[in-house]
Amino acid sequence: MKNYLEQHPWKVIENGYHPEHNKITESIFSLGNGYMGHRANFEEGFGDTMQGSYLAGIYYPDKTKVGWWKNGYPEYFAKVLNAVNWIGIDLFINDERLTIKPDHISDFTRILDMGKSILSRKMTVTTDKEEVFIIESERFCSWNRKEIGALKYKVSAVNFSGKLTIKSNLDFDVYNQDSNYDEQFWESRDSGQKEDFIYVQSYTKKTLFEVQAMASTMVKVGTVLNKQIAIKDKVVSHVFDFNLTDGQSIEIEKIVSIASSFNHNKETLLKVNQNNLEDILAGGYAQLKSEHVNAWADKWSQSDIVINGDVAAQQGIRFNIFHLHQTYSGDDARLNIGPKGFTGEKYGGSTYWDTEAYCLPFFLSNADAEVSRNLLMYRHNHLDKAIENAEKLGFKDGAALYPMVTMNGEECHNEWEITFEEIHRNGAIAYAIFDYTRYTDSDEYLNNYGIDVLVAISRFWAQRVNWSKDKEAYVMLGITGPNEYENNVNNNWYTNYMAAWCLRYTKECLDSLSETNPQLHEKKVAGLKLSSDEFDQWKKIIDHMYYPYDMSNQLILQQDGFMDKELIPVAELDESIQPLHQHWSWDRILRSCYIKQADVLQGMYFFEDDFDNHTLERHFRFYEPLTVHESSLSPCIHAILASKLGMKEKAYEMYLRTARLDLDDYNNDTEDGLHITSMAGTWMAIVKGFGGMRIENKALSFNPFIPEQWESYSFKLSFRGQRISVKVTKENMEIENLDQGSLHLNIRGKEVVLNGEPLKFAYNE
Ligand code: BGC
Repeated sequence: MKNYLEQHPWKVIENGYHPEHNKITESIFSLGNGYMGHRANFEEGFGDTMQGSYLAGIYYPDKTKVGWWKNGYPEYFAKVLNAVNWIGIDLFINDERLTIKPDHISDFTRILDMGKSILSRKMTVTTDKEEVFIIESERFCSWNRKEIGALKYKVSAVNFSGKLTIKSNLDFDVYNQDSNYDEQFWESRDSGQKEDFIYVQSYTKKTLFEVQAMASTMVKVGTVLNKQIAIKDKVVSHVFDFNLTDGQSIEIEKIVSIASSFNHNKETLLKVNQNNLEDILAGGYAQLKSEHVNAWADKWSQSDIVINGDVAAQQGIRFNIFHLHQTYSGDDARLNIGPKGFTGEKYGGSTYWDTEAYCLPFFLSNADAEVSRNLLMYRHNHLDKAIENAEKLGFKDGAALYPMVTMNGEECHNEWEITFEEIHRNGAIAYAIFDYTRYTDSDEYLNNYGIDVLVAISRFWAQRVNWSKDKEAYVMLGITGPNEYENNVNNNWYTNYMAAWCLRYTKECLDSLSETNPQLHEKKVAGLKLSSDEFDQWKKIIDHMYYPYDMSNQLILQQDGFMDKELIPVAELDESIQPLHQHWSWDRILRSCYIKQADVLQGMYFFEDDFDNHTLERHFRFYEPLTVHESSLSPCIHAILASKLGMKEKAYEMYLRTARLDLDDYNNDTEDGLHITSMAGTWMAIVKGFGGMRIENKALSFNPFIPEQWESYSFKLSFRGQRISVKVTKENMEIENLDQGSLHLNIRGKEVVLNGEPLKFAYNE
């Protein structure tokens, strides 16, 4: 754990430069607007750094390279590409490039203002020649104008008189950190000047995405001695010379438009950028900033969670909500939520089961209905590719296996134990359809699109199981469950349970459609070539699925043979060997009892109505002590279940672990980028965990408690076209409908109707 950042309710603050943690800070202070984003690299490019500036949807298909090729591997791994670096500024003192080293820096502060989505930095730089400058910078990715980034940069001379040159760059001469042989993925197309703007345009190798960045650099303070434009193949710059004397400052504003062929016709990029910039220049940086700040105020007024009495927890939840919004704005069904968002290269910027299993509830409650619908449409749009993917592995008749990792619907993952075996992802996609439908109480998506996905997924499960004569049941062999610290196991309980549930749910949805819309039902049955034989087969599987169980301990087993392991709780392990994956060989991890992330408990979380509290508690007490939470997706599920079981301290511990995972670098991996998808789990830990929010009998229900350490907490939710706010104090829970309608709710087992008047319930009643 690291504690070098200050705790503050709305800001993340680095006071004093910590060069040894710079890559971690670059991840934490990242900015984004759903369309583009970047790590908090310094404008001047110094420090131990991973340069990263990313554009949603722009990737490179890197050839799959593995030691031992397995039939069925995908041809490529999609790589999110480090794209044009638009923040770059070089300084020259009397024509000599200023190279900033850590010991030149004093009075350093870097602030991420989460309320405004603005990154700022101030520092004093003393050069080797004892010249002293104060440098201040501020930047943001505009929320209202997705293609626009803006930056303000000020240099003040404290102990210097002479020539200062500022070179403001657009730089496409960039590399990915994970490129194998320092290869570049961008080919230069064009660079130049359009009136007072500079631009640079490149295209990606193989995928041929075309991106153009265009910048305006305005001098706001200071007299320019000389102004030039420097044009190279991949780098263009505005260059300004100033005469600076002690006490004087120079300030520039740089506004950049980045347009790509993902959204525009290639031929029009220059025009799009030029129009974008011309449109902004009248109001300039100040107006752009104020629009952006207002938009963020709006976002926060919809989705803030306020915690009183615990700054660490407050900063944690805001940090998580903030980065979720920065990553996904939900207006384009071609885009999704990469586990690292715009904060790093790991996971290739691709889509994982994380979206459906973790992120959907956040967007259901905190964004317009269209946003979560787009997340579901994304998978529907990829259905044909999921069917092709399954065919490649020998499945047939419209069975679909969605990819574990994907950019455009094609599988990109190339480790056999995950690509072929971690098939529970199919289940999460089906579960999301169920979750969306119960939350919105609308079957429009389900009936028109969801059914196609459910049937294809069910067909996969029906073909993936086999009958075991020995067990007289259907079994599923060669599986990796959510806990990736087990591979190639037989009968992972979670996967078997999920498969049987999918089959049952699909059949129920079709039955219900035959009643509500017989015509559409008929059309679907014919279109999908469904037959009663197929349903009979599904029913047999549902009725005879095998679930591993230990009778003597009355325990559902994570998989066959789990009890053969040496069961030593994590608490007895030396801390110096954790995280295990950074210290133990893979075979040792596989043989051990340690659980990377919720697995049986993940199933009990999804299907909680199937298990009473005694059963849940027995399993929590067995599996939790063996869990190392080395996946970011784990603590949030434990927080929710511990809350349900009344284990308040455990719930709070797990909350802090998920909320501050990156801020405190719990797993020693924040430098690779943030754990964006688990951030939605943090939100769930409060709303579903502490707040006890559920959908019961088609209505919202709450069963809240408050952690000891907090005075109160409050959150808002969108629910079926209405917004409600919930506040929990030590004494009571208050709930208010912020819109006009009326809502039926269930508060701690009591049915109530919420109209215009706020309701209050004594907490200890
Ligand atoms: C987890 C997976 C997850 C992936 C991306 C892995 O460490 O085990 O469940 O999908 O990270 O977040």
